[in-house]
Amino acid sequence: MAARFDIEKLSAKHDRSRFDCGSEPLNRYFTQQVTQDVRRWVAACFVATTSAGAVAGYYTLASASIPLADLPPETARKLPRYPSVPAVRMGRLAIDRQFKGQGLGAALLADALTRALSSDIAAFALIVDAKDDVAAAVYRHHGFIGFGDNPHALFLPLATAKTLPQA
Ligand SMILES: CC(C)(COP(=O)(O)OP(=O)(O)OC[C@H]1O[C@@H](n2cnc3c(N)ncnc32)[C@H](O)[C@@H]1OP(=O)(O)O)[C@@H](O)C(=O)NCCC(=O)NCCS
Repeated sequence: MAARFDIEKLSAKHDRSRFDCGSEPLNRYFTQQVTQDVRRWVAACFVATTSAGAVAGYYTLASASIPLADLPPETARKLPRYPSVPAVRMGRLAIDRQFKGQGLGAALLADALTRALSSDIAAFALIVDAKDDVAAAVYRHHGFIGFGDNPHALFLPLATAKTLPQA
């Protein structure tokens, strides 16, 4: 992806009111709720902005964990017998309609992986809860694997992510 976008922490300077990714819950979350979650330390939000300052996409990150019993046996076998393993959850990811299909979703995913990998706090994997089958297919395309009973719950071990090309 060309360096047309900056990715930075959401702040008061960003205009959230015009964001439209085509999904009403994701629009509503971004325009009405995200700042409360950030203020309460339950989510961090990062935005991609154009050179004109418009928000082209956003994602959120928060701490999470995966019950060891939910992981595929071949993954769990290589982990210590703790009840759960630490993870980072990408709670939401959305690209404005105007900017879809240009690699920005992949770039934000790469940015989330970089932040998770560069944190001083250990996490075994990035996890997502895909909102539908299409979103799950996009994540699977990037190497995410299912865990647990929910077909939309997916994880990507950060050790694997280290080897992925960065957008
Ligand atoms: C899903 C979404 C984030 C993708 O963002 P985007 O910028 O349009 O996607 P990109 O251009 O980065 O493409 C991502 C990759 O997924 C692939 N992809 C797209 N649709 C796919 C599908 N149905 N199945 C498999 N792979 C798919 C693309 O080919 C691309 O792969 P590549 O980088 O190897 O070429 C965006 O369409 C969006 O905001 N949708 C509405 C909200 C949403 O569904 N969010 C997911 C939250 S769970």
